[in-house]
Amino acid sequence: MSAEPTVHLNGEWLPLSQARVPVLDRGFIFGDGVYEVIPVYGRRPFRLPQHLARLARSLEAIRLEPPLDAPGWTALIDELLARNPGGDRSVYLQVTRGPASRDHAFPRAPAPTVFAMVSPLNPPDPALLEEGAAAVVLEDIRWSRCDIKSVNLLANILLRQQAVERGALEAILVRDGQVTEGAASNVFIVRDGEIRTPPTSRFMLPGITRDLVLELARAHGLPCREAPVSEAELRGADEIWITSSTREVLPVTRLDGRPVGGGPGPVWRRIMPLYQEYKRNLREAAEA
Ligand SMILES: Cc1ncc(COP(=O)(O)O)c(C=O)c1O
Repeated sequence: MSAEPTVHLNGEWLPLSQARVPVLDRGFIFGDGVYEVIPVYGRRPFRLPQHLARLARSLEAIRLEPPLDAPGWTALIDELLARNPGGDRSVYLQVTRGPASRDHAFPRAPAPTVFAMVSPLNPPDPALLEEGAAAVVLEDIRWSRCDIKSVNLLANILLRQQAVERGALEAILVRDGQVTEGAASNVFIVRDGEIRTPPTSRFMLPGITRDLVLELARAHGLPCREAPVSEAELRGADEIWITSSTREVLPVTRLDGRPVGGGPGPVWRRIMPLYQEYKRNLREAAEA
């Protein structure tokens, strides 16, 4: 990737440092917008139809007319990747309700802002995979539409920062005694050999990585279930994993300073190669 990436802003292609949005953009003033992060392995966006479907659902949930349809987004991403050649990358897409005079109510004729950029995607640090990550348990202080991938991430930021200040990589969130997700990830546990992750709801983002992990587990006969996980079950789990597009499937081996299992567990050691194989196939298909 060249030093200065080329980004897309409202139909124009510009060097990142020259991309500007008006200060009255509702994304800036209110956090009134949604986004997606799509990993790209080789030249292949990872699970693109699923990411675009989630973007469409987020736009529908905030009642913003989609500025592009799926073929339109696909063409935009193809051009973005062609203009920013490189290895593994991630595409960031953002749509806001655009500039308007400052009023909470929607503008009558919104002119959405569409922004897209590419960033390098570094594989998880092997040392971190070997040792596992630290996490803390925090109360989920967010709103009740966490299924919308909103750019308004203030609660997630405050939660993640609390985790960092306690020497942890992620905050695992609990609402009314039940695990929802991480500040920027979904959560899995393993108990007695069974993989479990909370069912989707308005209190969590339906992660694309989460779905793939469930798919891989089912395809390879690993017992797994979407069912509630209580805080007590989390604390007593044999294994804990967090999943996200950028973190992949990361074992959590310390929770609130206490060890989880004796390091990355045997079920994680089965799922991780399956995930890596899926990525490798995607890369090889792109090169073919
Ligand atoms: C709050 C939250 N939950 C879950 C995820 C995982 O989603 P995905 O696997 O689609 O990256 C993310 C990703 O950033 C997130 O921010």
